[in-house]
Amino acid sequence: MCGIVGYVGKRDAAPVLVEGLHRLEYRGYDSAGLAVLHRGRLQVTKTAGRVQDLRDKLKSNTKATLGIGHTRWATHGEPNEINAHPHTDTAGRIAVVHNGIIENAEHLRAQLQGNGVRLVSDTDTEPLAHMIAAELAAAEASTGDADGADTVGVSLEEAVMRTLRHVEGAYGLVVLDTKHPDQLVVARNGSPIVLGLGEDEMFVASDVAALVRYTRQVIYLEDGEVATIRATDYRTTMLNGGQANKQVRTPTTVDADADDYDLGTYQDYMRKEIHEQPDALRRALLGRLDDRFATARLGGINLDARDLRNIRQIKFLGCGSAYYAGQMGAMIIEELARIPADAEPASEFRYRSPVVDPDTLYVAVSQSGETSDTLMAVQELKRKGGQVIGAVNVVGSAIGRECGRGIFLHAGPEVAVASTKALTNMAVSFALLGLLLGRVRDLSAASGHRIISGLRNLPEQVNKILHNEEEIATIAHRFAQAEHMFYIGRVRGWPVAREGAQKLKEISYVHAEAYQAGELKHGPLALIHRDMPSVVIIPSDDLVAKNVSTIEQIKARGGPVIALASAEIPEGLADAVIKVPRAEPELEPILLNVPLQILAYHTAAKLGRDIDKPRNLAKSVTVE
Ligand code: F6R
Repeated sequence: MCGIVGYVGKRDAAPVLVEGLHRLEYRGYDSAGLAVLHRGRLQVTKTAGRVQDLRDKLKSNTKATLGIGHTRWATHGEPNEINAHPHTDTAGRIAVVHNGIIENAEHLRAQLQGNGVRLVSDTDTEPLAHMIAAELAAAEASTGDADGADTVGVSLEEAVMRTLRHVEGAYGLVVLDTKHPDQLVVARNGSPIVLGLGEDEMFVASDVAALVRYTRQVIYLEDGEVATIRATDYRTTMLNGGQANKQVRTPTTVDADADDYDLGTYQDYMRKEIHEQPDALRRALLGRLDDRFATARLGGINLDARDLRNIRQIKFLGCGSAYYAGQMGAMIIEELARIPADAEPASEFRYRSPVVDPDTLYVAVSQSGETSDTLMAVQELKRKGGQVIGAVNVVGSAIGRECGRGIFLHAGPEVAVASTKALTNMAVSFALLGLLLGRVRDLSAASGHRIISGLRNLPEQVNKILHNEEEIATIAHRFAQAEHMFYIGRVRGWPVAREGAQKLKEISYVHAEAYQAGELKHGPLALIHRDMPSVVIIPSDDLVAKNVSTIEQIKARGGPVIALASAEIPEGLADAVIKVPRAEPELEPILLNVPLQILAYHTAAKLGRDIDKPRNLAKSVTVE
């Protein structure tokens, strides 16, 4: 997905922008560009290639101290140099970088063309540059201010705001005006923008990853917010609130530094993040286990024992893997707290006129905290009086702020598009929630202690699984040529199967489908044959015999089977076996999930896929 950077200060802006864009490469992009202000003129450099090409193309002697940059993921118009951002007006006065989608772009383009403006690109962004330039020109003409210096009502910010009132859709944008060489104007509506506060310098980006090398003091813009940033100060205002609401907000300190974004000895982020899981798990548990009362401490959810007892139902809302993590959470909570719990894709929730029950606790699950569908579901819930907490990884993100309370996942920055450590920390956080809810209900102290000790064992057990990586890789290589695969699970194994299939298909492009084991004979068994391997999940629960019989049914029809088992299964039953350490039964989904990440990873590696940036996918989906 697109990435934005901007800089105003004393440094040479171009290298700062290139470094920022490099840090955003993980989000996926097809072209890149930047504009700096050099001796009063815009100097625009673009490439239909990588950020490295941009670096190579740059003139080394600009020494500009103001600039903006962008990595583009094509929506309107093919990925080429002309469509790459920044976009400028005809005179080359204004430059704009934009993330998101302008929905009325066709109308705006037609209007500009009707006024004789020649549009050079096919994008939805270019109209903004022309419109801002026209607003400035009109205002300057009426005040006789040909220099373009600020006079009352003719600021760059005002011109941007006037333009945005004609714009429908989602945007995060940064605007540079050659006649306002000391400032940038930024705006957010549905696509993240974060300001980075340095000493006598200011940064802007769509993702803190671009900033942490320079500063950890940041301000996340709200939807509908516009800001003017200069080297030494900034002011934010609401698009619909007028100048009177200008404010200086208190910065947040980012919980990550530049090293967290470095690959170190790894070749890609996904493998690095898979291997970071023991540490990530330890962070998720830190300070949250209460041995005295055999319960969990989750201060951020802001619910006391009485509130917790009044909850009649738990409902998780998330998208993709965050939804599957919610399913794992629902399973664990029903077991530990004996209250009904389930999960629903956030992308469906707001469209189906949901019945919002005040005694249900809704949990909005999101690694990025920026997923538009999940954010909208939270807003819908709040409108209807639902009580909602967040489970997010990125502190200060939109969903975290919208919920106002919740559980931080503490997984550390997750860079690879495929979620691994964040998903594991989601599931473990929901186990903590289940423990807390259980202990104000029927869960005994003895069971509470058992779960606490099971949770404490998880990091080491994940380590054991990681030590088994080579064996799992061999299995992955053996089956990598399959075009289709089944992932089969029942009860505790079911959300694991769904997430396992998701991981395989998104990074290896092998078609994988998850099925509940009991459903096989109601249709999908017809697909079983020797080229259709099945991964069968076998937790150590009461259903081992049933799972063994599922494997026998598949084998009887010639289908190869990879058994993923924490339980003992008969020797020679499956074609390949991945052994998983036994955990406390309720916690087993958390462990069973890890080998499936490794299986997907090595399948994708064998097939030569771009693992961190799978085709057509983005790390945070901030558009509908
Ligand atoms: C899968 C994956 C996606 C995300 C989904 C939600 O590996 O990463 O399915 O889980 O896009 O993203 P977040 O959690 O940021 O809301």
